[in-house]
Amino acid sequence: MAEVSEPIVRVFFALWPSATLAAQLGEIARQQAAVAGGKATRPETIHLTLAFIGNLPETRLAELIAAVQGLSAPGFTLTLDQLGHWSHKRLAWAGCQQPPAALASLVTALHQRLQQATFTVDRLPGQFFPHVTLVRKTTQAAPSGPLQPPLRWPCSEFVLVRSHLSAAGSDYEILARWPLG
Ligand code: 2AM
Repeated sequence: MAEVSEPIVRVFFALWPSATLAAQLGEIARQQAAVAGGKATRPETIHLTLAFIGNLPETRLAELIAAVQGLSAPGFTLTLDQLGHWSHKRLAWAGCQQPPAALASLVTALHQRLQQATFTVDRLPGQFFPHVTLVRKTTQAAPSGPLQPPLRWPCSEFVLVRSHLSAAGSDYEILARWPLG
């Protein structure tokens, strides 16, 4: 008899922007893609990944959510003031020239909780480079340097996201939310 394969979900923790900020970033993504080629991130999918879990048996989702319950971390405001391009990944991004210490603390606390609960997180906190992916599959370098005017991103929660692959790329579903502050 053929084995029944276990349902797998692809999940990660992220900061999710307001619709207004996502629209602003989506416009910048379109401008970057106009120069660099590739595929601009759709506003409704724009985010900043905090911890990437990747493929996980669906049966472990409740355990994953439980691992993060009660995590206490302060809120913070990101200043997105930098545009960059990684040619090896063919990816254009927006980020912060000086990410707040509270962001690194959140990532460290999150990774600790996940590791204690035996979840494997790709990239250790020390390798974490906060960025918002604006364009994928660029065909040439995207403009890099200061983003003018900078965009303010008040962060008062983080979320657990499930990724669904579709013809348009990835669609994301927010599974759970935790407040900051
Ligand atoms: P990226 O935008 O830099 O590609 C959903 O795929 C999110 O998870 C994206 O923000 C993506 O980052 C991130 N991601 C995908 N694979 C990852 C990995 N192996 N390690 C860390 N983050 C990853």
